[in-house]
Amino acid sequence: MTILRAQKRCVVLVPFFYQGHITPMLQLGKILDSKGFSIIVAHTEFNSPNPLNHPEFIFLPLEDNLSDIDTSSNNILAVIEAMNENCKGPLQDSLAQMMKDQEKYGQVCCIVYDAVMSFGRSAADHLQIASMVLRTCSAFYMQTYHTILQLQAENFFPLQESKLLEPAPELHALRFKDLATPVNTEIPQPVLELFEKMSSFGSSVGIIWNTTEDLDHISLSELQQLYKIPFFLIGPLHKMAPASSTSFLKEDRNCMAWLDKQAPSSVLYISLGSLASMEEKELEETAWGLANGGQPFLWVIRPCSVNGSDWIEQLPKGFQESVGERGHIVKWAPQKEVLAHSAVGGFLTHCGWNSTLESLCEAVPMICRPCFADQLANARYLTHVWKVGLELVEVKDRVVIEKTIRKLMEENEGKEIKQRVLEMKQKLDTSINKGGSSYKSLCDLTEFINSFTV
Ligand code: UDX
Repeated sequence: MTILRAQKRCVVLVPFFYQGHITPMLQLGKILDSKGFSIIVAHTEFNSPNPLNHPEFIFLPLEDNLSDIDTSSNNILAVIEAMNENCKGPLQDSLAQMMKDQEKYGQVCCIVYDAVMSFGRSAADHLQIASMVLRTCSAFYMQTYHTILQLQAENFFPLQESKLLEPAPELHALRFKDLATPVNTEIPQPVLELFEKMSSFGSSVGIIWNTTEDLDHISLSELQQLYKIPFFLIGPLHKMAPASSTSFLKEDRNCMAWLDKQAPSSVLYISLGSLASMEEKELEETAWGLANGGQPFLWVIRPCSVNGSDWIEQLPKGFQESVGERGHIVKWAPQKEVLAHSAVGGFLTHCGWNSTLESLCEAVPMICRPCFADQLANARYLTHVWKVGLELVEVKDRVVIEKTIRKLMEENEGKEIKQRVLEMKQKLDTSINKGGSSYKSLCDLTEFINSFTV
């Protein structure tokens, strides 16, 4: 039986405009669409998603007035503030209009906003509809905000350099070095304010997490003591959602044919996600580490991700000749498919949360090279809690890089890691299958959204 749009409940999604945040939000949209909700994606004009990839959604561009602001990642705090200020009115006004036209949009019952996009909550309050938060990172990372804010209030920071390797209080495996921001210098006030905002959810009625019980249960139960609203743990979202492209950059699919020619579990895949960059020295040392490591490799080098160059101009002379067909470099890969390919045996990663989940779900052991934010905590969990990755202890030393690759891809330690990551994959599979924890939590979420009055 076809349900008319007018009879459907409509969920409004407000994603944060970076790749690592917009992807899980669109995946959530796919999931809710498959549960019979109609979906409006209210997005900034800056970095807007491609509507052609998601014909089932209604896209609502919000006038963000960001064109006069430096939108580079160095100015991100100012951009977040301006965006929250500028987009609130347009979201409220557009939704107020849409709510009058149920035939076209359905019954708008709730706004789900990325934790960064707090204007989503303000708009929901104004329109007197429910709001929920989507947390795109892990719960153990979220706990670091609380610790930082608490210790800052006790004038604990800045911390001496020598203490950075000590355990951070109440954060299990994490050290001061793994926190969300460097704590050996004065923490800037705008950073503290952002952490404050991102850990207080006002009138919101629930938190949706891209994580699972298996990965995160201790932190989740501790956070549940603090937040008295329901948690829905429905990750890994990319496995719960029907597949679709959410990439801003064009995926170079030629690498799949190259992977087809490689031996099983022989290839090291390298990517630092959508934001991190590297200096020329790191590029050079990584290149020689890969060349000397002897393994085939698929390396994503995003345009402009090496400081001072457009793409691969700064690769060392003689490198490409020396590796020949053994190495394949692309600007952007279909990462989920790459990780699922039987030729891939390891992932040198920056440990973004999406990459972490995608690698775990395909049982691909990791070499961890975190850059900033949650990546440090994720790397610590990968290497010291779940023990499914090796830490890259020096990123500008070709010998260390080569040895780490060999350890992961050739030695016994790598085999033990592979065994553990396989066990982890099995647990994640169980959680998303019928009757598993994520599956059940999604049923609860569907019921919860259906209970909102419209
Ligand atoms: C950012 C933060 O840096 C990260 O730490 C946080 O957890 C989410 O927001 P990003 O750095 O891009 O994200 O990393 P990640 O979370 O791993 O997301 C990258 C996404 O891009 C993944 O879904 C990955 O599959 C995709 N990707 C990456 C590709 O599709 N192709 C590529 O070549 C590289």
